[in-house]
Amino acid sequence: MTAGKGTIADFALFGGPALFDRPRSIGNLVTPDFERFMSYSRMFLEARQYTNNGPANRLLENRLAEFHQTQRCVTFSTAFWGLSLAMRCLALPGRREIVMPSLTYRRMGEIAASAGLVPRYCEVDRTTRAQTAETVAACINDDTALLLGAHPTVNCCDAAGLEKLSAETGVPLLFDSVESVYETCGGRKVGSFGRAEGFSIHASKLVNGFEGGYVTTDDHQLADRLVYMRGFGFAEMDTVVEFGFNAKLNEVHAAMALTGLDDLEEQVIRNRVRYEQYRREIEEVPGISIVEFDESEKCSYKNVLAEIGPGWPLSRDDTLTLLTAEGALARAYYSPALHTHQPGFEIRHGELPVSEELATRFLLLPCGDQMASEDITAVVGLLTVIAARGGELRDRLEGVSLSTGACGEAAS
Ligand SMILES: Cc1ncc(COP(=O)(O)O)c(C=O)c1O
Repeated sequence: MTAGKGTIADFALFGGPALFDRPRSIGNLVTPDFERFMSYSRMFLEARQYTNNGPANRLLENRLAEFHQTQRCVTFSTAFWGLSLAMRCLALPGRREIVMPSLTYRRMGEIAASAGLVPRYCEVDRTTRAQTAETVAACINDDTALLLGAHPTVNCCDAAGLEKLSAETGVPLLFDSVESVYETCGGRKVGSFGRAEGFSIHASKLVNGFEGGYVTTDDHQLADRLVYMRGFGFAEMDTVVEFGFNAKLNEVHAAMALTGLDDLEEQVIRNRVRYEQYRREIEEVPGISIVEFDESEKCSYKNVLAEIGPGWPLSRDDTLTLLTAEGALARAYYSPALHTHQPGFEIRHGELPVSEELATRFLLLPCGDQMASEDITAVVGLLTVIAARGGELRDRLEGVSLSTGACGEAAS
């Protein structure tokens, strides 16, 4: 028996020692090169400008615009506020609905609501786990103000198909590209699709800025508006020209993100090694598989997404309960499908059976720089034991309930 779990009693959930004393999460949690971080920090320390679009922020915006091959990049305190303000700018006036997938980031409905919009949830494609031009088109009506294309956790959605739909219908298109920072889509760099794209630099993401986000666009007018909006709506001292509040990225976060950007290519190489080890080792485990990156495109290999098949002995959620107790903070992605619960704001949707089914099948496995090769082997060892002793585990799990919520910086 592998993973030190010779008997059911050895599982942490049933009283055995946890596999990891320090939890392993799904966040990349890249440790910065300290000297490099200090040298970027020196920029704002010497200028004595700690926020309000200081030197590190300006450099970061230029570097990110160059990286995404876009005219402009505007940073924010979080991707949440970057996306929310971009929605507010782009929504067609007099209309209220934003079409977005139900199988997506768990707070996307709140982002739309914060922009004064009503989410209209659309279906996703079973294979790509993303919305398609067809599933979005089926939701467009006289009240549609905006389309949100969300890239799934592995690979990209059909961004060009959504652009075509947007051009045909005249409804603007915004992307949540948080999971596709490094990716290309049909050979074209993610960042310049639609009217704008939003990204996160939370510590768990590919570019670690502790916290933060940014929006890329080729539209100078939009970028100028967003700059005002993230700074209280002020154009000059006390002249309010836009709706706005404090959603600025501070300088220390910008310095951290710049440090991360310098390491990006190396990080992707490290991610790939971990992803390939997972793939190789999980191949031996029946009933579970790793979702493969489309290597005909550029990919970050950041997320290690596993799918449980009909042969897997436990539900996805029971599997998560066991893994979490061991300190392997795998996460249900995406779950629940957003239309299946009632938030404190209006939502609209039809029947979305594919989203509901897919919401029970996938889990992101611990990844990132915290995962040594032996840690990956240990996680796969645990899955091997679960595959072999699922019946006994299922019996023991009855009546046991444990939160599988995020811990530490597992997720933003
Ligand atoms: C797909 C996706 N979109 C948006 C966000 C929001 O990012 P932030 O935490 O920077 O607000 C996240 C955060 O995890 C995310 O995963």
